[in-house]
Amino acid sequence: MDWLRRGGAHALTSLGCLVAVYLLSQSIPAAAAGAAIALLPALYRPKPAAVEAPVVADRPEPADPLDAVRSAFAGFDSPVFLLNGEGNVLYQNPSASHAFGEIGEGQHVSARIRQPVVLDVVKEALATGRPGSTEITTPMPSESVYMVRIVKALGEADFFVLIFRDISETRRIDRMRTDFVANASHELRTPLASLRGFIETLLGPARNDAKAQEKFLGIMQEQVTRMSRLVDDLMSLSRLELKARVVPDDAVDLVPLIGSVCDALAPLAADVGVEIIRVLPPTPVIVKGDRDELTQVFENLIENACKYGQEGKKVEVTLTVPDGQMPEVSVRDYGPGVPEEHVPRLTERFYRVSVESSRSKKGTGLGLAIVKHILTRHRARLAIRSEVGRGSTFTVRF
Ligand SMILES: Nc1ncnc2c1ncn2[C@@H]1O[C@H](COP(=O)(O)OP(=O)(O)OP(=O)(O)O)[C@@H](O)[C@H]1O
Ligand SMILES: [Mg+2]
Repeated sequence: MDWLRRGGAHALTSLGCLVAVYLLSQSIPAAAAGAAIALLPALYRPKPAAVEAPVVADRPEPADPLDAVRSAFAGFDSPVFLLNGEGNVLYQNPSASHAFGEIGEGQHVSARIRQPVVLDVVKEALATGRPGSTEITTPMPSESVYMVRIVKALGEADFFVLIFRDISETRRIDRMRTDFVANASHELRTPLASLRGFIETLLGPARNDAKAQEKFLGIMQEQVTRMSRLVDDLMSLSRLELKARVVPDDAVDLVPLIGSVCDALAPLAADVGVEIIRVLPPTPVIVKGDRDELTQVFENLIENACKYGQEGKKVEVTLTVPDGQMPEVSVRDYGPGVPEEHVPRLTERFYRVSVESSRSKKGTGLGLAIVKHILTRHRARLAIRSEVGRGSTFTVRF
């Protein structure tokens, strides 16, 4: 490590600045970049003045300058390697050891990192001194996608910083967005195709058939209603997303709110032969929230319980305030329940246990996704318990 100690301070200072600028430009989380900058003074630390020497005679040897770099990178959650001009590892931070395993000091980086694209980029940077980057997917320990960058430190010393930035989350969100657009278009395409079919029939074979016309127009009206419901739900999801971080702060009394949702759904419940039983406390239960959004939450939960738990013939809506805790609302049905493997996915957009059964019940599969968004904004949680053959309980905890 002599080369480093000798040339050290200047190169390290440059390296520190370089890394801080690099991290900021790469939008590595501000906190991490902040930490790097906070550590920069350590790189500038002046040598102890000569006069102090006798007083601190047994002070340990001055620290290895590489220690400053080590501590600057140690807390980073991105894997970082310091390489010399030959591509041998001078230092790897704990995150790098966790992701790729330990490479002995002085061993070539290819001891652990085998992806040819990374090795090519490293080779190129070592040869030219120019920065390089590439993207890789690693299968172990869990599939991760990394943006890999290598930059040469400024100054005379010949060393390179190789950083792996985990972009798996960004990729996952990209995929979700594409899936979402595909799902939404698919949901709209089906009713649109059927509308086109009916219009052709009405203009052609059924032109003079009043009875068929009435029947087809009825179906068309249903399809159009379904499409506008879908569009309304999509818009309400996107509105909720926009204000996800704003916590609503009106005082809302849950007792009359739940009461009126039950009243409003009574006709639908009666249609499907379900009785809604409410168990509400006699005194107000106040939470901070948005009245319309909370109404939407309980409407969907109670409507689902009636629609999908129809066979159970009853739905219980219970509001309790456990001692010293926040209020809880549970909606319980005695229907067929949901098989375990579907439960964690129910709040995904467009997820339906049975697409046919949901469609026939005029569902869009967006209800629980909206519920989850609203509750997140209210800092409340949705717990789902379900047993096949015995029914489901959806509990909202504020
Ligand atoms: N109480 C329940 N019992 C059984 N299955 C349920 C229950 N609640 C929801 N599900 C299942 O979860 C799926 C998603 O529900 P969600 O409310 O998100 O959509 P939806 O009811 O189909 O459509 P929308 O709410 O937009 O009308 C439903 O299609 C159904 O398969
Ligand atoms: Mg629903």
